[in-house]
Amino acid sequence: MKEQLAQIREAALAAVAAAEDSAAIEELRVRFLGKKGEVSAILKSLGSLSAEERPKMGQLANEVRADIESAITDKKAELGKAALAARLESEKIDITMPSKKTSIGGLHPLNTVLADMIDIFQSMGFDVVDGPEVETDYYNFEALNIPADHPARDMQDTFYLGENILLRTQTSAAQIRTMKDRKPPIRIVCPGRVFRADEVDATHSPVFHQMEGLVVDKGITMCDLKGVLEQFAHEIYGPETKVKFRPSFFPFTEPSVEVDVTCSECGGKGCRVCKGSGWIEILGAGMVHPNVLRACGIDPEVYSGFAFGIGLDRLTTTRYKISDIRLLFENDKRFLEQF
Ligand code: PHE
Repeated sequence: MKEQLAQIREAALAAVAAAEDSAAIEELRVRFLGKKGEVSAILKSLGSLSAEERPKMGQLANEVRADIESAITDKKAELGKAALAARLESEKIDITMPSKKTSIGGLHPLNTVLADMIDIFQSMGFDVVDGPEVETDYYNFEALNIPADHPARDMQDTFYLGENILLRTQTSAAQIRTMKDRKPPIRIVCPGRVFRADEVDATHSPVFHQMEGLVVDKGITMCDLKGVLEQFAHEIYGPETKVKFRPSFFPFTEPSVEVDVTCSECGGKGCRVCKGSGWIEILGAGMVHPNVLRACGIDPEVYSGFAFGIGLDRLTTTRYKISDIRLLFENDKRFLEQF
């Protein structure tokens, strides 16, 4: 029996040492230590031994059992470690790999200019209002003192969506909506997209941007217009900027002016940007025509007002020295990333 035990131990330890996974270990545990296992069989057969032999063999059998048990425990731990190491290896994350690039956008230069303009006018007490891009003939032309046969329509041909529905050619349509909506005193700006059937070139686009301004109250004069526009020009182009009014014509203002500022590039000496004149035209303006006030139910004998329309695109291209207006609309990241 002693020999048998020695054999069992030897066989068990060798088998455990050779086991390759936990399933094999479990099999060995059952085979040697299980209820019907080889060591148990010996323990059961102890009864047949003499009283003298029994405790010795019992002790030996228990030692063998303990040895096998601890070999199994050790092997299990060893296999567990190896399995963990293998898993860590297979799930390894290479933290030195370059990450996916996330690109963060920025404000479009037009929007930066727009935000600055809104800031300036809000600080002078103007409200910002919104108008529809799809307008009726009435708001875009008729109520602005441009009847169907008026020659001024030629300069503002647009895209028609129906007989009387069109893409607005000017933010001036918002003047009418505002005056019909609110009673004086009125002080608003309305920025937005406008459309004209223009050929595309470096300075023209069928889609561009304006900001309309409108003030209506008792006793408003051209001095107020000039003061507001001067303040605006100083804040946008710098305090040394001069503002010049040139007589002009718009059907919805009387008198009408075109407004130039000294060229921000050369300070008025004359350069490529201002085509040698020293001045850059930035907007059209004037005193709201009595017909327009009347069409909106405002008595021109009591109230007066001024309006202006600033082109945002020109302001943006001159500020950032952008040579071609088309760049503003192409959404080319290589261009936009520069701002
Ligand atoms: N709406 C005019 C244009 O687009 C600009 C303007 C606005 C002129 C307001 C006078 C008053 O040309």
